[in-house]
Amino acid sequence: MSALLSVEGLGITFGGLRAVHDVGFKVQPGEILSVIGPNGAGKTTLFNMISGIYRPGTGRIVLDGEDVTAMRPDLLARRGMSRTFQNLQIFQNMTVLENAIAGYHLTESGSLLADLFSLPASRGRARAAKDGAMELLARVGLERAAETEAGNLSYGKLKRLEIARALALKPKLLLLDEPAAGCNAVETEEIDRMIAEVARSGVAILLVEHDMKMVMRISNHIVVLDHGEKIAEGDPATVSRNPDVIAAYLGTETEALHA
Ligand SMILES: Nc1ncnc2c1ncn2[C@@H]1O[C@H](COP(=O)(O)OP(=O)(O)O)[C@@H](O)[C@H]1O
Ligand SMILES: [Mg+2]
Repeated sequence: MSALLSVEGLGITFGGLRAVHDVGFKVQPGEILSVIGPNGAGKTTLFNMISGIYRPGTGRIVLDGEDVTAMRPDLLARRGMSRTFQNLQIFQNMTVLENAIAGYHLTESGSLLADLFSLPASRGRARAAKDGAMELLARVGLERAAETEAGNLSYGKLKRLEIARALALKPKLLLLDEPAAGCNAVETEEIDRMIAEVARSGVAILLVEHDMKMVMRISNHIVVLDHGEKIAEGDPATVSRNPDVIAAYLGTETEALHA
């Protein structure tokens, strides 16, 4: 099987600092691959290169057989790559449903505003967008919160809404940057279950996450970065036994690695 995403020899330098150096890995459809590593290891920088925010200094990114290195995020989205950001990008004053519709509209031609205000020419499209958005909310367990103002949601629910928005783009590959950041244990488990469910539907997940227990629980494959370089990769059990990985985390999260 050819990989959905292939990252080859990726590198970038910031003013002499090698933030990421010669990193490569492959992601298969339906796979959950996590990138872990201590603070400053280069995880977010790697994500920003893959999702078209930074132009890599070296290497290439191949999505579904097409070279997409340094392609703009909106063009990547059209090719099936969708991402969330570490900081929430939700419209606080809109309802949950309106937020989901906003995500859905990124895939459609036509005007979001026209549809929200139901101008005659766009009523049919608005109906389709609303139905699509409701389906998305059901998928992330937020259908009963559809009419709630997003600003009133718990943090865990906001995170799920953000993922619903990313799913509106019907991605083949979903990049999640710290989806459980700031969430309590219960919320984290809900997000866990949701990510696993999305993966089961065939979407590949590329995850950067600080919560090591979550990473060990849901990942099929783990890539470990330290000082911008890949120091290990493999399944959770193999990676957590790797002496280089334990050394990189020494004094910080070694206990969590074995939790
Ligand atoms: N835009 C930037 N300009 C200069 N240095 C950066 C920039 N982004 C990241 N870095 C540096 O690159 C290294 C990797 O950072 P980052 O990718 O944010 O690590 P992580 O996400 O693993 O904590 C760090 O030393 C960081 O200070
Ligand atoms: Mg980071």
